Amino acid sequence: MCLPGLCVWLLLLTALSVCPPLFRGLMPRTLDSQITMEKTPSYFVTREAPRRISSMSRDTKLIVVVRNPVTRAISDYTQTLSKKPDIPSFEALAFRNRSLGQVDTSWNAIRIGMYMLHLENWLQYFPLSQIHFVSGERLITDPAGELGRVQDFLGLKRIVTDKHFYFNKTKGFPCLKKPESSSLPRCLGKSKGRTHVQIDQEVIEQLRDFYRPYNIKFYEMVGHDFRWD
Ligand SMILES: *[C@@H]1O[C@H](CO)[C@@H](O)[C@H](O)[C@H]1NC(C)=O
Ligand SMILES: *[C@@H]1O[C@H](CO)[C@@H](O)[C@H](O)[C@H]1NC(C)=O
Repeated sequence: MCLPGLCVWLLLLTALSVCPPLFRGLMPRTLDSQITMEKTPSYFVTREAPRRISSMSRDTKLIVVVRNPVTRAISDYTQTLSKKPDIPSFEALAFRNRSLGQVDTSWNAIRIGMYMLHLENWLQYFPLSQIHFVSGERLITDPAGELGRVQDFLGLKRIVTDKHFYFNKTKGFPCLKKPESSSLPRCLGKSKGRTHVQIDQEVIEQLRDFYRPYNIKFYEMVGHDFRWD
Protein backbone atom coordinates (compact mmCIF):
# COMPACT_ATOMS: atom_id res chain seq x y z
CA MET A 1 0.00 0.00 0.00
CA CYS A 2 1.32 3.43 -0.82
CA LEU A 3 0.13 6.44 1.10
CA PRO A 4 1.60 9.91 0.60
CA GLY A 5 5.10 9.84 2.01
CA LEU A 6 4.72 6.37 3.36
CA CYS A 7 5.53 3.37 1.24
CA VAL A 8 5.16 -0.07 2.62
CA TRP A 9 7.26 -2.72 0.98
CA LEU A 10 6.47 -6.31 1.55
CA LEU A 11 9.55 -8.44 1.25
CA LEU A 12 10.71 -11.74 2.59
CA LEU A 13 12.52 -12.46 5.80
CA THR A 14 14.60 -15.16 4.17
CA ALA A 15 16.30 -12.59 1.98
CA LEU A 16 17.34 -10.60 5.05
CA SER A 17 18.59 -13.55 7.03
CA VAL A 18 20.62 -14.95 4.14
CA CYS A 19 22.27 -11.84 2.77
CA PRO A 20 21.58 -8.39 4.16
CA PRO A 21 23.49 -6.39 1.51
CA LEU A 22 21.49 -7.95 -1.31
CA PHE A 23 18.30 -7.40 0.62
CA ARG A 24 19.09 -3.74 1.11
CA GLY A 25 19.69 -3.49 -2.60
CA LEU A 26 16.11 -4.60 -3.13
CA MET A 27 14.78 -1.80 -0.99
CA PRO A 28 13.83 1.49 -2.65
CA ARG A 29 15.96 4.55 -2.07
CA THR A 30 14.31 6.73 0.49
CA LEU A 31 13.96 10.47 -0.04
CA ASP A 32 14.06 12.88 2.92
CA SER A 33 10.28 13.15 2.85
CA GLN A 34 9.78 9.40 2.88
CA ILE A 35 9.88 6.49 5.27
CA THR A 36 10.72 3.04 4.00
CA MET A 37 8.94 0.22 5.76
CA GLU A 38 9.38 -3.48 5.68
CA LYS A 39 7.02 -6.03 7.16
CA THR A 40 7.57 -9.63 8.23
CA PRO A 41 5.52 -11.35 10.93
CA SER A 42 8.40 -13.50 12.15
CA TYR A 43 10.92 -10.74 12.94
CA PHE A 44 9.59 -10.19 16.45
CA VAL A 45 10.14 -13.82 17.46
CA THR A 46 13.37 -14.44 15.54
CA ARG A 47 16.32 -14.57 17.89
CA GLU A 48 18.88 -13.06 15.51
CA ALA A 49 16.63 -10.31 14.13
CA PRO A 50 17.31 -7.53 16.70
CA ARG A 51 21.08 -7.84 16.40
CA ARG A 52 20.97 -7.89 12.60
CA ILE A 53 18.57 -4.99 12.30
CA SER A 54 20.51 -2.92 14.82
CA SER A 55 23.77 -3.54 12.97
CA MET A 56 22.06 -2.25 9.80
CA SER A 57 20.63 0.82 11.50
CA ARG A 58 20.29 1.57 15.20
CA ASP A 59 17.72 4.28 14.45
CA THR A 60 15.19 1.83 13.00
CA LYS A 61 11.73 2.24 14.45
CA LEU A 62 9.90 -0.97 15.12
CA ILE A 63 6.18 -1.59 15.01
CA VAL A 64 4.73 -4.78 16.44
CA VAL A 65 1.09 -5.83 16.21
CA VAL A 66 0.12 -7.93 19.21
CA ARG A 67 -3.16 -9.58 20.09
CA ASN A 68 -4.49 -11.81 22.84
CA PRO A 69 -1.99 -14.71 22.81
CA VAL A 70 -4.72 -17.32 23.31
CA THR A 71 -6.67 -16.10 20.27
CA ARG A 72 -3.37 -15.79 18.44
CA ALA A 73 -2.47 -19.42 19.12
CA ILE A 74 -5.88 -20.64 17.92
CA SER A 75 -5.65 -18.46 14.82
CA ASP A 76 -2.14 -19.78 14.15
CA TYR A 77 -3.38 -23.37 14.49
CA THR A 78 -6.39 -22.66 12.24
CA GLN A 79 -4.05 -21.39 9.56
CA THR A 80 -1.71 -24.38 9.79
CA LEU A 81 -4.67 -26.76 9.76
CA SER A 82 -5.96 -25.21 6.53
CA LYS A 83 -2.67 -26.21 4.87
CA LYS A 84 -2.05 -29.50 6.71
CA PRO A 85 -5.37 -31.11 7.63
CA ASP A 86 -3.65 -34.17 9.19
CA ILE A 87 -1.95 -32.50 12.15
CA PRO A 88 -2.93 -33.50 15.72
CA SER A 89 -5.65 -31.64 17.61
CA PHE A 90 -4.96 -28.23 19.15
CA GLU A 91 -5.16 -29.72 22.66
CA ALA A 92 -2.67 -32.47 21.79
CA LEU A 93 -0.13 -29.88 20.58
CA ALA A 94 -0.73 -27.24 23.23
CA PHE A 95 -0.09 -29.38 26.32
CA ARG A 96 2.68 -31.63 27.49
CA ASN A 97 0.24 -32.93 30.10
CA ARG A 98 -3.17 -31.38 30.03
CA SER A 99 -4.42 -32.74 33.36
CA LEU A 100 -1.41 -31.16 35.03
CA GLY A 101 -1.96 -27.99 33.00
CA GLN A 102 1.57 -28.27 31.56
CA VAL A 103 1.64 -26.16 28.42
CA ASP A 104 4.08 -27.09 25.69
CA THR A 105 6.13 -23.92 25.33
CA SER A 106 8.23 -25.46 22.57
CA TRP A 107 5.23 -25.37 20.24
CA ASN A 108 5.59 -22.22 18.12
CA ALA A 109 1.90 -21.34 18.28
CA ILE A 110 2.30 -21.10 22.06
CA ARG A 111 5.79 -19.65 22.20
CA ILE A 112 5.11 -16.71 19.88
CA GLY A 113 2.48 -15.34 22.29
CA MET A 114 4.97 -15.15 25.18
CA TYR A 115 5.59 -11.57 24.13
CA MET A 116 7.69 -10.51 27.12
CA LEU A 117 10.38 -13.08 26.28
CA HIS A 118 10.74 -11.78 22.74
CA LEU A 119 10.65 -8.17 23.89
CA GLU A 120 13.51 -8.83 26.33
CA ASN A 121 15.58 -9.92 23.37
CA TRP A 122 14.78 -6.71 21.42
CA LEU A 123 15.47 -4.48 24.41
CA GLN A 124 19.08 -5.64 24.40
CA TYR A 125 19.49 -3.80 21.10
CA PHE A 126 16.78 -1.12 20.94
CA PRO A 127 15.36 1.30 23.52
CA LEU A 128 11.66 0.93 24.23
CA SER A 129 11.11 4.41 22.78
CA GLN A 130 11.90 2.99 19.33
CA ILE A 131 9.33 0.21 19.60
CA HIS A 132 5.61 0.76 19.17
CA PHE A 133 2.99 -1.87 19.95
CA VAL A 134 -0.26 -1.89 18.04
CA SER A 135 -3.24 -3.62 19.64
CA GLY A 136 -4.55 -6.18 17.16
CA GLU A 137 -7.98 -5.94 18.80
CA ARG A 138 -8.17 -2.16 18.54
CA LEU A 139 -6.83 -2.22 15.01
CA ILE A 140 -10.14 -3.89 14.12
CA THR A 141 -12.51 -1.89 16.34
CA ASP A 142 -10.78 1.48 15.89
CA PRO A 143 -8.36 1.36 12.94
CA ALA A 144 -8.07 5.14 12.62
CA GLY A 145 -7.25 5.57 16.31
CA GLU A 146 -4.64 2.83 16.25
CA LEU A 147 -3.09 4.16 13.03
CA GLY A 148 -3.20 7.66 14.49
CA ARG A 149 -0.82 6.47 17.19
CA VAL A 150 1.36 4.77 14.57
CA GLN A 151 1.61 8.00 12.60
CA ASP A 152 2.51 9.93 15.77
CA PHE A 153 5.17 7.36 16.60
CA LEU A 154 6.66 7.75 13.11
CA GLY A 155 6.52 11.54 13.33
CA LEU A 156 4.03 11.78 10.48
CA LYS A 157 1.06 14.05 10.11
CA ARG A 158 -2.18 12.22 10.84
CA ILE A 159 -3.08 11.68 7.19
CA VAL A 160 -4.90 8.39 7.62
CA THR A 161 -8.09 9.01 9.58
CA ASP A 162 -11.59 7.69 10.11
CA LYS A 163 -12.73 8.78 6.68
CA HIS A 164 -10.39 6.27 5.05
CA PHE A 165 -12.15 3.25 6.55
CA TYR A 166 -15.52 1.61 6.54
CA PHE A 167 -16.49 -1.49 8.43
CA ASN A 168 -17.42 -4.44 6.22
CA LYS A 169 -19.86 -6.53 8.25
CA THR A 170 -19.58 -9.60 6.00
CA LYS A 171 -15.81 -9.61 6.35
CA GLY A 172 -15.90 -8.58 10.00
CA PHE A 173 -13.02 -6.18 9.42
CA PRO A 174 -12.53 -2.57 8.52
CA CYS A 175 -11.56 -2.01 4.88
CA LEU A 176 -9.74 0.84 3.19
CA LYS A 177 -12.24 2.93 1.24
CA LYS A 178 -10.08 3.76 -1.71
CA PRO A 179 -6.38 3.03 -1.90
CA GLU A 180 -4.29 5.38 -4.05
CA SER A 181 -3.50 2.67 -6.55
CA SER A 182 -7.08 1.81 -7.44
CA SER A 183 -10.60 3.10 -7.39
CA LEU A 184 -11.95 0.02 -5.60
CA PRO A 185 -12.13 -0.46 -1.83
CA ARG A 186 -9.55 -2.78 -0.39
CA CYS A 187 -10.19 -5.37 2.28
CA LEU A 188 -7.88 -7.96 3.81
CA GLY A 189 -7.41 -11.17 1.84
CA LYS A 190 -9.39 -14.40 2.09
CA SER A 191 -7.02 -15.96 4.63
CA LYS A 192 -7.81 -13.16 7.14
CA GLY A 193 -10.86 -13.30 9.33
CA ARG A 194 -11.35 -17.03 8.87
CA THR A 195 -13.59 -18.78 11.37
CA HIS A 196 -11.35 -20.26 14.03
CA VAL A 197 -11.32 -23.91 15.02
CA GLN A 198 -13.72 -24.52 17.91
CA ILE A 199 -11.72 -25.04 21.11
CA ASP A 200 -13.06 -26.34 24.42
CA GLN A 201 -13.73 -23.49 26.88
CA GLU A 202 -11.76 -25.32 29.55
CA VAL A 203 -8.68 -25.42 27.31
CA ILE A 204 -9.05 -21.71 26.68
CA GLU A 205 -9.19 -21.08 30.44
CA GLN A 206 -6.07 -23.18 30.98
CA LEU A 207 -4.19 -21.19 28.35
CA ARG A 208 -5.45 -17.90 29.80
CA ASP A 209 -4.03 -18.95 33.16
CA PHE A 210 -0.79 -19.92 31.50
CA TYR A 211 -0.37 -16.60 29.67
CA ARG A 212 -1.55 -14.31 32.50
CA PRO A 213 1.86 -13.81 34.18
CA TYR A 214 3.55 -13.30 30.80
CA ASN A 215 0.90 -10.76 29.79
CA ILE A 216 1.18 -8.85 33.07
CA LYS A 217 4.96 -8.67 32.73
CA PHE A 218 4.56 -7.52 29.13
CA TYR A 219 2.10 -4.74 30.15
CA GLU A 220 4.60 -3.58 32.76
CA MET A 221 7.47 -3.58 30.30
CA VAL A 222 5.64 -1.54 27.65
CA GLY A 223 3.61 0.58 30.09
CA HIS A 224 0.29 -0.32 28.51
CA ASP A 225 -2.47 -2.71 29.57
CA PHE A 226 -3.79 -4.54 26.51
CA ARG A 227 -6.66 -6.05 28.58
CA TRP A 228 -6.34 -9.62 27.37
CA ASP A 229 -7.32 -11.17 30.70
C1 LIG B 1 -0.17 -36.55 33.24
O1 LIG B 1 -0.02 -36.45 34.64
C2 LIG B 1 -0.79 -37.35 35.35
C3 LIG B 1 -0.68 -37.02 36.83
O2 LIG B 1 0.68 -37.00 37.23
C4 LIG B 1 -0.33 -38.77 35.02
O3 LIG B 1 -1.10 -39.72 35.72
C5 LIG B 1 -0.47 -39.00 33.52
O4 LIG B 1 0.05 -40.25 33.16
C6 LIG B 1 0.25 -37.90 32.74
N1 LIG B 1 -0.05 -38.04 31.32
C7 LIG B 1 0.88 -38.03 30.40
C8 LIG B 1 0.39 -38.13 28.99
O5 LIG B 1 2.07 -37.95 30.65
C1 LIG C 1 -17.25 -7.03 2.04
O1 LIG C 1 -16.50 -8.20 2.19
C2 LIG C 1 -16.97 -9.27 1.40
C3 LIG C 1 -16.18 -10.51 1.82
O2 LIG C 1 -14.79 -10.28 1.78
C4 LIG C 1 -16.81 -8.92 -0.08
O3 LIG C 1 -17.25 -9.98 -0.88
C5 LIG C 1 -17.64 -7.64 -0.35
O4 LIG C 1 -17.41 -7.21 -1.67
C6 LIG C 1 -17.25 -6.53 0.61
N1 LIG C 1 -18.21 -5.45 0.47
C7 LIG C 1 -17.84 -4.20 0.29
C8 LIG C 1 -18.93 -3.18 0.19
O5 LIG C 1 -16.68 -3.88 0.24
